Amino acid sequence: MYAAVSGSASTSFWSRGLARIRGSRLSTSAKKTPTGLDKVVAAEVAAIAACKAPLKEAKVVPRLQIVRVYRWNPETPQVKPYMQQFSVDLNKCGTMVLDVLTFIKAQHDPTLSFRRSCREGICGCCAMNIDGVNTLACITKAKESPQPLVIYPLPHAYVIRDLIPDMEQFLGQFQKIDPYLKRPGEDDFLGMRQILQSPRDRSKLDGLYECIMCACCTYSCPPYWWLGDKYLGPAVLLQAYRWVIDSRDMAHKERLAKLRDLYSVYRCHTIFNCTKTCPKGLNPGKAIAQLKRLLAGLAKKEKPDLDTALPNPCYGEEHGRKE
Ligand code: SF4
Ligand code: SF4
Ligand code: FES
Repeated sequence: MYAAVSGSASTSFWSRGLARIRGSRLSTSAKKTPTGLDKVVAAEVAAIAACKAPLKEAKVVPRLQIVRVYRWNPETPQVKPYMQQFSVDLNKCGTMVLDVLTFIKAQHDPTLSFRRSCREGICGCCAMNIDGVNTLACITKAKESPQPLVIYPLPHAYVIRDLIPDMEQFLGQFQKIDPYLKRPGEDDFLGMRQILQSPRDRSKLDGLYECIMCACCTYSCPPYWWLGDKYLGPAVLLQAYRWVIDSRDMAHKERLAKLRDLYSVYRCHTIFNCTKTCPKGLNPGKAIAQLKRLLAGLAKKEKPDLDTALPNPCYGEEHGRKE
């Protein structure tokens, strides 16, 4: 009994003491003004709490765009080519026409066929006719409009399937102009030295070397539509001029001789559809005009500013270039 009484007395003593200490601590912290560190900790705690809170779904209004795409499948030749219509929410896909087509292929119809590779306007694969203009789908913005977005393959080209044109004729013509450096009589020295070119000579290639052979210009050129098998078209002629005027190339006479006929160059009537449509901002019409001046003898290819000496394969010595 005594023990119990004394026990309860001691407990109440200690609890009174603890309460006093706690009270004094509480009163001290209540009085304390928050330090800079306290504020930082409080901000972090609030940020963590905000992160853990469930996200409120932002209400986004759909941006529906009607897209009409040319369709043709060689596996069902009895079905004539037709235009298929899709309704695409532009909020759900990327900003370019190529993104819209990729979205349609992924979400609406996996059989839709088109070429693409770099999606940066560099490879030239995705050339097609968008709203009446030959251009690259990957660098053309898909704008929201009450009018449908109308997409065809490149006009006047044979179609392999849907938006894929047959480029065989075009690439065959490109091959014909020998699109590489030619230095007749120097075959033994290939890869043995750098071929020099002055900055001035190099600048003559500006506006030409940027061509990515997308064929947008060629398939916008009316003479090419009618005489594509004989007339080389703006893209190939721009490339032909690019190799003719390259100061390092020594075969310009042979190149010009190959172009000197009634059709290869002279079907160009300087309408400049090609220049208007080029998605890289080049001027094939001007290149063709300069090519015609060279063919007619009204202009001459300048001598290169720098000559490259030939190495002597026997002694490592150099001797002058043969003309
Ligand atoms: S000139 Fe322009 S449109 Fe023509 S092939 Fe070259 S990049 Fe394409
Ligand atoms: S300028 Fe010549 S190459 Fe260009 S679109 Fe007209 S006809 Fe064709
Ligand atoms: S995908 Fe390469 S130019 Fe468009």
